[in-house]
Amino acid sequence: MDFIKYEKQDRVGILKISKPKALNALSSEVLKELHTLVNQLKEDSELRVLVLTGDGDKAFVAGADIKEIHSLNPTSASDFAGYGQKVFMQLENLAIPVIAAVNGFALGGGLELALACDFIFASSEAKMGLPECTLGLMPGFGGSVRLARRIGPGQAKELTFTGGMVTSEEALQMGLVNRVFPPENLLTETLKVAQIMAQRAPLALAAIKKTVDSTYGVATEKAMQMEQQAFAQLFHSEDCSEGTLAFIEKRKPQFKGK
Ligand code: CAA
Repeated sequence: MDFIKYEKQDRVGILKISKPKALNALSSEVLKELHTLVNQLKEDSELRVLVLTGDGDKAFVAGADIKEIHSLNPTSASDFAGYGQKVFMQLENLAIPVIAAVNGFALGGGLELALACDFIFASSEAKMGLPECTLGLMPGFGGSVRLARRIGPGQAKELTFTGGMVTSEEALQMGLVNRVFPPENLLTETLKVAQIMAQRAPLALAAIKKTVDSTYGVATEKAMQMEQQAFAQLFHSEDCSEGTLAFIEKRKPQFKGK
């Protein structure tokens, strides 16, 4: 792959978008590579957590590729947005936790990519925003939908109507990011959290993720039924029996993801 670097540390994958000269902007080529890699990761039964970050110290991802966008027409723009949305949905639908480690600018499609992850940790130097309106555009990779869901429509509209950027501290206060670390510690601290998750029962994490995501906006009673079903479903797993037995026997559980 030319624009993505991928490595695995134990059972945690580290995916870096790598097009530093263009601040890791998402061209169709980058999106294609992301699509291919995420498809491969779906098949990796040993993978427990994915961390997504940007190569270099300046940008996570500075947006969709503006040079490519400039040549679009309504039909190709629809295809471009549709493809980006599809790739991000595929990432969002991974059964494992996916953490965005935002190491610099996360703008436009870059913030949209981070929002497709389960949650965001950020460097204290990072800047985030959806500046599409400054280009006569709007978010096209899911940002109008996901940002409003993450931080509420009022905050989301202020950010997208002004096209401004927020600092990590401001993003923390808005609930856009979960934690902020000094730049030099961001990846290490993110990996520490990822390693904790990697030790938990994978099927339990997958069920929690699916329940949190699929019950959003669903009426409470129906949402409770969905949680109840997911809870019961876990009792088909060996890990459920192992986890509870290990507690009773006062030992560490050995989870197998089965
Ligand atoms: N697309 C293409 N190239 C980009 C880019 C992008 N989104 N962001 C940065 N670059 C390129 C610049 O063109 C420049 O390349 P050259 O050296 O060849 O000119 C290189 O990256 C470095 O960028 P700057 O010189 O601009 O760096 P800076 O430090 O002065 O500014 C920045 C940094 C504030 C992030 C600025 O680059 C910037 O504003 N970038 C664009 C951010 C943006 O508007 N993103 C939204 C894109 S639209 C979108 O994402 C639509 C969607 O939802 C699908």
